[in-house]
Amino acid sequence: MNELENQLEYIEKCRHLVEQISKEKKRPLTACITTFGCQMNARDSEKLTGILKRSGYLITEDENADFVLYNTCTVRDNANMRVYGRLGVLNGYKKRNPDMKIALCGCMMQEQTVVDKIRQSYRFVDLIFGTHNIFRFAELLYRTLIEGKTVIELWQDTDQIVEDLPVERRYAFKSGINIMFGCNNFCSYCIVPYVRGRERSREPDEILKEIRKLASDGVKEIMLLGQNVNSYGKTLSYPISFAELLRRVHEIDGIERIRFMTSHPKDLSDELIEVIKTSPKICKHLHLPLQSGSTRILQAMNRRYTKEGYLALAQKIREEIPDIAITTDIIVGFPGESAEDVDDTIDVIRQVGFDNAFTFIYSKRTGTPAAAMEDQVPEDIVKESFDRVLKVVQETAKNRASLLQGRQEPVLVEEVNEHDPSLMTGRMSNNMLVHFPGDPSLIGSIVTVSLDVCHGFYYFGKRVEQ
Ligand code: 5AD
Ligand code: SF4
Repeated sequence: MNELENQLEYIEKCRHLVEQISKEKKRPLTACITTFGCQMNARDSEKLTGILKRSGYLITEDENADFVLYNTCTVRDNANMRVYGRLGVLNGYKKRNPDMKIALCGCMMQEQTVVDKIRQSYRFVDLIFGTHNIFRFAELLYRTLIEGKTVIELWQDTDQIVEDLPVERRYAFKSGINIMFGCNNFCSYCIVPYVRGRERSREPDEILKEIRKLASDGVKEIMLLGQNVNSYGKTLSYPISFAELLRRVHEIDGIERIRFMTSHPKDLSDELIEVIKTSPKICKHLHLPLQSGSTRILQAMNRRYTKEGYLALAQKIREEIPDIAITTDIIVGFPGESAEDVDDTIDVIRQVGFDNAFTFIYSKRTGTPAAAMEDQVPEDIVKESFDRVLKVVQETAKNRASLLQGRQEPVLVEEVNEHDPSLMTGRMSNNMLVHFPGDPSLIGSIVTVSLDVCHGFYYFGKRVEQ
């Protein structure tokens, strides 16, 4: 029996058990998944939801449920803190519903210190598993339901990729697709290579098969996911480039928009720029993490490009694809960062004119080379630099956004506006949001909207009949 068949069998076993408990309780069993972190985790949660749903659970947003799973993130310390805080609340629910099962998975669980702490201080947790054995969730769920003691299964690494397990998409019209797992870059501040393991790419045929299936289900927009998509395919037995994968994805009928994330500047090829330029379905948005504008800090970060190298790349992209939005990630407060280094970062932000930037305060991650570096920057200085960077980021983003004033743009309608139910929220090719009067029947369709009033990062507009 292969691993897929094995897990499908466990889903069946879970389904019988859940049905039985549900009969005893005379009500359906509920399950809630809370996701922390990035799009990779969001996609993993869709897979976990698929398994819970097939096992007979009613999926709810309410954490006061029969099965609660936290899919955790550990890229920065504040994500960890939120998990510990919320576990206390779950314990309160469990006291009132002793049959409740609490499970933890994701990147945080790949850290030994975290698991030790949970075993010692959060003994009410029923199941712990990590990132490498996520495909074994059905089996672990079954064991948790029958064993009545904490189940812990953690792997240090894996080369296995199990295809075709059930998945429950959050949106009907768009979906993420993993094209690779793990990361080999070892940026000196980053814990991802330690918790997500070595880089491995999925076979292109498996990816294309999954996307064809999504297209036949009515999905219009896909996002290809990997920690560094630009090195996709290099380790396959028949290597192909990321640009070539994009070309093949582009041919799939029904898919109208293609996005991808994340690109490492050191590996971004001319071939990729050419494919983006010549493929109308590829969205005009590139997320290109800068991290720092100082060559000295970039070197200490092990990013393997310089300030000038990044600037030249951004300029080439803007020349080749003038409409493209470039967004970025920036870390402030890396060990040894001086005011001059921050000036360099600000200089790059101004020169490139990012359409948006996620600015993070450096977070010391145990086990990474940067955690052992001397001259960690004092908190008050980091705060000052952070505010300086943020101000310029907001300025340039606003300038970039205002350039679109008066244009008419196709948008994929995503949802009813959170604050005003008479408005719909749609996303442009460049990833910017626009809110406009409309009704929920538009969700999932692509309509043209005029960009009337700019509010910094987003627009208010009106639907234009084409
Ligand atoms: N501290 C702060 N930010 C970090 N990131 C990764 N590791 C850290 C860290 N230790 C940021 C990077 C990355 C994004 C996903 O998270 O900017 O691009
Ligand atoms: Fe972390 Fe660098 Fe890999 Fe991104 S490329 S996941 S920042 S190590």
